[in-house]
Amino acid sequence: MSNAQKWIAGFLLLFLILFFLEQLTKPENKGENAAMMAQGTVNTAQTTDGIKLLENIGCTSCHGADLSGTKLAPALTSVKNNWSRDELLNFLRNPDAYQKNSRFKKYKQEFKTIMPAYSNIDVKTLGKIVDYLMSLKKD
Ligand code: HEC
Repeated sequence: MSNAQKWIAGFLLLFLILFFLEQLTKPENKGENAAMMAQGTVNTAQTTDGIKLLENIGCTSCHGADLSGTKLAPALTSVKNNWSRDELLNFLRNPDAYQKNSRFKKYKQEFKTIMPAYSNIDVKTLGKIVDYLMSLKKD
C-alpha cells in the first residue's frame, strides 16, 4: 500500500468507528414521556424530577420507559395501591425483606431478574423517587 492509500484507509476506518459510536449513543424513545403525560397517567408537577431520577438510576431499564412494566419487571404505575410512603422507601433500600408477600411470590415466578437494593442511594433522593411513584395515578 502506498502512503496515500494508507491515509485513505485510515480515514475510512475513523468514519466507520464514529458512525457506530453515534449509533450506540443515540438517545432512545424520548417521545415516550410526553406520550405518558398526554395520557394523564402522571401528575405533571412531579414529573421532570421523578422520571429523570428513575431514568438516571436505571429503574426504567427494567420497569420500562413509561414504567408500565417489561419482561424484566412489573409495572410501577399503581404502587400507590399497595404501599405506604415509608414502606416503599424501606422496600427500595431492602427489597429482600418483602419477598414473603404473596404478590412477590408471583413476581418470582414471572420475572427472572431481581429488584436490586438501593441502600447506596441517599434517603433524600429515594424520597423523591417514592414521592414520584406515589404521585402516579391508580389504574
Ligand atoms: C434489574 C431490574 C430492576 C431494576 C433496575 C429495578 N427494579 Fe424494581 N423490581 C424488579 C423486579 C424483578 C421486581 C419484582 C419483585 C422482586 O423480584 O423483588 C421489582 C419490584 C419493584 C417494586 C414493587 C412493585 C410492586 O408491585 O409492589 C417497586 C416499587 C420497584 N421495583 C421500584 C423500583 C425502583 C424505584 C427502581 C430504581 C430505583 C427499580 N425498581 C429498579 C426489577 C428491577
